[in-house]
Amino acid sequence: MSGPQILIVGGGMITHDQLLPSLYHMQRQGRLGAIAVCASRFSTVRDLARAETLLRAFPGQSFRASPDRDGPPQPELYREAIAALPPRQIVVVAVPDQLHYEVAMAALGRDQHVLCVKPLALEYRHAAAIEREARARDLLVAVEYHKRFDDRSLMARRQYRAGAFGEFRLGAARLFEKWYYRHSNFQNWMTTAHSDAFTYIGCHYVDLVHFITGLLPVAVSVYGVRDRFPNGNEGFLWTDARVIWSNGACLNVQNGLGFPDDAPGTNTQGLTLYCGGEDQGALLEHSDQYRGLKHSYTRRPDSPGATIYAEPSPDYFQYVDLAGVGLTPVGYGYRSVDYIVSSMIRVESAPDDCRRELLEEFDHAGIMATPHNSSFNERVIEAGRRSILEGGAPVGIKAVGAA
Ligand SMILES: NC(=O)c1ccc[n+]([C@@H]2O[C@H](COP(=O)([O-])OP(=O)(O)OC[C@H]3O[C@@H](n4cnc5c(N)ncnc54)[C@H](O)[C@@H]3O)[C@@H](O)[C@H]2O)c1
Repeated sequence: MSGPQILIVGGGMITHDQLLPSLYHMQRQGRLGAIAVCASRFSTVRDLARAETLLRAFPGQSFRASPDRDGPPQPELYREAIAALPPRQIVVVAVPDQLHYEVAMAALGRDQHVLCVKPLALEYRHAAAIEREARARDLLVAVEYHKRFDDRSLMARRQYRAGAFGEFRLGAARLFEKWYYRHSNFQNWMTTAHSDAFTYIGCHYVDLVHFITGLLPVAVSVYGVRDRFPNGNEGFLWTDARVIWSNGACLNVQNGLGFPDDAPGTNTQGLTLYCGGEDQGALLEHSDQYRGLKHSYTRRPDSPGATIYAEPSPDYFQYVDLAGVGLTPVGYGYRSVDYIVSSMIRVESAPDDCRRELLEEFDHAGIMATPHNSSFNERVIEAGRRSILEGGAPVGIKAVGAA
């Protein structure tokens, strides 16, 4: 096996559904070395290693698990796992939002590239510290905003930037996860003290509006409805945000863990941007949930949230049978991981004196979210957290550079 070694910190839903299968596929193609997964609990890595879908798709492939035996939770074990890597490999940060900063900094401190699930951090100063640390060591930090790699986002970006839609004026976005999410590990960390529905999932559409239009957010207000998780913890499980942009445009973003479990599709989500040109209205509308497929099965599938009538998305992440060994992951979830990891491999293959230039090229291209070109997201999250704790008061955002 050649290519960089990978350490994934966190073995929860996103690791199972998108990250590990994407990395296994790259490993199967001979582009990655050994893969390790570190969680705080043995049961997490044990269950991941036994996951039926992964065993079927990637027969003969496995990861090195830590902890490797049962015992009390080890929240600091990831530091040892990072220290065990040779320098300039890849650490994937897939832990709850409030831990991203410390895991990313621990990885950078050991000279590792970092792929971090969104959001990079909950405070702007943390994103800035991550950027400084990465720059000092010529390492790539990329935030995995996978919606950027949906072809419809890339089409919209190209056409918007060519002037086809005029200028964005008013818009709405929504992303509601299914109700059953409340019963998952989310109830232990997506609590009012740490996060909320907007911070968790709304950031995707704030990022996407910038990605398409190039505009920057200047103010945000987030109203959150407090609700109880099944374990009694309190969370802002429904949020309504208003984001004002640098040209005065306004985006309303609604989020929640509340899409009915019996409704078709894994969630409901979409984006509408009303725009204006010279004496002409323009419209960009994406249904990011209903992608034209209707399935009705003979019985309800076993997976959580699955329904007998379904509207599956072929676009985010699916396994297809292309013959050969196992199954092949397809979709923008896979493409996003491939793009980021391939970019890290490019940095390592470049001569030492060209690395800085390549990293700056990534920052300026703005296709991959880096701390340099996407930390407006941390500004929005930080302001949004202040706003939600003040009942939805508007909070201004300082200007920040972005690609
Ligand atoms: N659409 C998206 O981009 C998307 C979707 C889902 C999750 N995410 C992000 O991914 C992250 C994880 O979400 P998830 O859905 O996998 O959550 P999850 O609750 O299912 O999993 C979190 C994992 O982190 C592990 N963990 C917690 N503390 C740890 C520590 N100290 N050391 C090592 N491991 C630790 C837990 O064991 C668990 O395996 C979150 O930041 C979330 O916002 C992004």
